[in-house]
Formats: sequence, structure tokens, C-alpha cells
Amino acid sequence: MPDFVPVLKKEDIGKAVASMARNISADYVDRDLTVIGVLNGAFIFMADLVRHLSIPVEIDFVRVASYGAGIESSGRIQLTKDVETNIKGRNLLIVEDIIDTGLTLSYLTDHLKSFGPHSIKICTLIDKRERRKTKIHVDYAGHVIKKGYLVGYGLDHAEKYRNLPEIYHLKF
Ligand code: IMP
Repeated sequence: MPDFVPVLKKEDIGKAVASMARNISADYVDRDLTVIGVLNGAFIFMADLVRHLSIPVEIDFVRVASYGAGIESSGRIQLTKDVETNIKGRNLLIVEDIIDTGLTLSYLTDHLKSFGPHSIKICTLIDKRERRKTKIHVDYAGHVIKKGYLVGYGLDHAEKYRNLPEIYHLKF
């Protein structure tokens, strides 16, 4: 059984979500915005984030697979669900739970660019920088974490622990 070391409490998460939502609402006032969540991990963060926005937004989702049941990205990214709304000419905000190597987001950004949006920005609850493999500009980050495999608040290990309300470092 692995150890669960607390990393972010409900209060830390709540403050980060509210602060990012304030910045996003200010940046997109009087502009259109489509918020695109990356499934499965972003489902809880995205639900909390959009409820804090004070601007009208459209919502869409993509789903990608890269980790399988391990704790290291395979680097092979597969899009298993695409956007379903018309994003041509729209401002897009990609919402991720955590950025690690950056490979998923760099793949997704390139993919979404092919639809001809007006702009693309990136929002992540956790920016984990130690293993970054590609240069990626993160526009909104809730918390920067050096390293460690995290679970809870949407983050899984082999599809488990997503439902934990707080975030833990999983130690094997
Ligand atoms: P990247 O392509 O390496 O940046 O990985 C991004 C995806 O890997 C995220 O959307 C998560 O699904 C998953 N991931 C990366 N680090 C963690 C972690 O610490 N816990 C759970 N999932 C993670």
C-alpha cells in the first residue's frame, strides 16, 4: 500500500481556483471564450473553475491518453475524444489538471490550432516543472510543484483516487 502525503489542502486548492478565475474573467471581459477541459483528470478542477468565472463561456472537452497505468508518460499521445463545438475564430482556454513533461499540451495546442481559433491559452491547476521536455507557455497556473506523483481532486493513479477532495503525493 503506498503512502499518501498531503500536498494541497481544500483551502489551498480553493484559493488557487478563485484567483485564476478572477484573472481569467478580467482577461476575457467583452471577448468570447471556449473553455476546453482535458479529460479525465481536469473534470473536477474545470467544474470548480468555470463556476467561479464571471463571464459567459462555452464549454467543450477533449480526451487524451498517454500514461496507461504507470506513473511515467509514455510520450505517445492519443486523442480519444475531439472537440465537438465550432472553435474556428474563437478564443480557447485549455484546462489541464497537471502539466508534467508538457508533451500532452504541446500536442493538444498543435491539434487545436488546426481548427483556426483566434487564440489559445493554457490553464493548469498544477505546474510540475522537473521533467519538462518541451517549451510551453503556461498562462494560468494554480500551484508550482517541483516533483512527485500526485493524486486526488481529479488526478489518478491507474484510474483510482480521482475522487479524493485534496491532493496527495503518492509514495511507493
Ligand atoms: P505530460 O504530457 O507529461 O505533461 O502529462 C500530462 C498528463 O499526465 C496530465 O494530464 C495527467 O493526466 C498526467 N499526469 C502527469 N503527472 C501526474 C501526476 O503527478 N499525477 C497524476 N497524473 C499525472
